[in-house]
Amino acid sequence: MYVRPAAAAAAAFLGFALTLLGGTASYAATGPGSAAGPLGLGGPVVYAHRGASAYAPENTLAAVDLAMRLGFDWVENDVQRTRDGELVVIHDDTLARTTNVEQLFPDRKPWKVKDFTAAEIARLDAGGWFGEEYAGASVPTLRQYLDRVQRNRQRLLLEIKKPELYPGIEEQTLRVLGEAGWLDPRHVAQRLVVQSFSADSVRIVHGLRPDLVTAFLGTPPVADLPRYAEFTDRINPWHTTITADWVAAVHGLLGAHGRAMEVDTWIVDDAATARKVQEMGVDGIITNAPDVVREAVGGF
Ligand code: G3P
Ligand code: CA
Repeated sequence: MYVRPAAAAAAAFLGFALTLLGGTASYAATGPGSAAGPLGLGGPVVYAHRGASAYAPENTLAAVDLAMRLGFDWVENDVQRTRDGELVVIHDDTLARTTNVEQLFPDRKPWKVKDFTAAEIARLDAGGWFGEEYAGASVPTLRQYLDRVQRNRQRLLLEIKKPELYPGIEEQTLRVLGEAGWLDPRHVAQRLVVQSFSADSVRIVHGLRPDLVTAFLGTPPVADLPRYAEFTDRINPWHTTITADWVAAVHGLLGAHGRAMEVDTWIVDDAATARKVQEMGVDGIITNAPDVVREAVGGF
């Protein structure tokens, strides 16, 4: 588990101190596009994947809060849409794995997110499957999630999940971000990145809000990278698919905002792999166990 009193206390103190300074634990001076750490510290940016999801139920407010307590300001999430048009934060396109939907709605197999209303989803327990202490946690709406991340002064790597299931989700996501105050210059410059496995979706987001930092999830061949550079700033690959040469090829291109493209890799939960991808030169590591990665690579 994550509790290593001395390291955790030190990290929590630093995170708290930087929060008081108005920027939480990383990169206020350099914005979302830099791996230069706070106070001149180096190391890749560490992103708490679905929150601190090794230790709390993924994509819940509890996982976001735990990431904050561990000293991490960047959290990653997944956004999908209910039958009646509410954006909610959940990874799978069914509710079965991470909620008690099968108990509450036994006749609604296969329990697709898109087949349930927001009111029905609000009744579900999204924490009990993970541990008794989290029983009663809900599937947050995107708006609830944004408000919590904002309250915690954290930053968000927002994934538009399976956009092919949800026509128009890009525009709707931007609308909710705007209503929650996440599209002002400060958020856009320092606190928000939008990513997707769908290049079309990333391109749509870039077209609607060219000022936003975006990322494509995947590992395109080097020859194809220039096409991606036209509409995105980052290429975020699964760690098993990359080499140092590939990372260097991405870095060698200017992205949609005229800066060197970056690479944030996922999902790295052990020290050896974290050091390996650090040596490859990645800018960020997306992890379920951010404390483990921080200890391995010295990132924040
Ligand atoms: O942020 C990268 C990662 O979230 C991509 O995979 O399936 O966990 O959304 P997945
Ligand atoms: Ca994700």
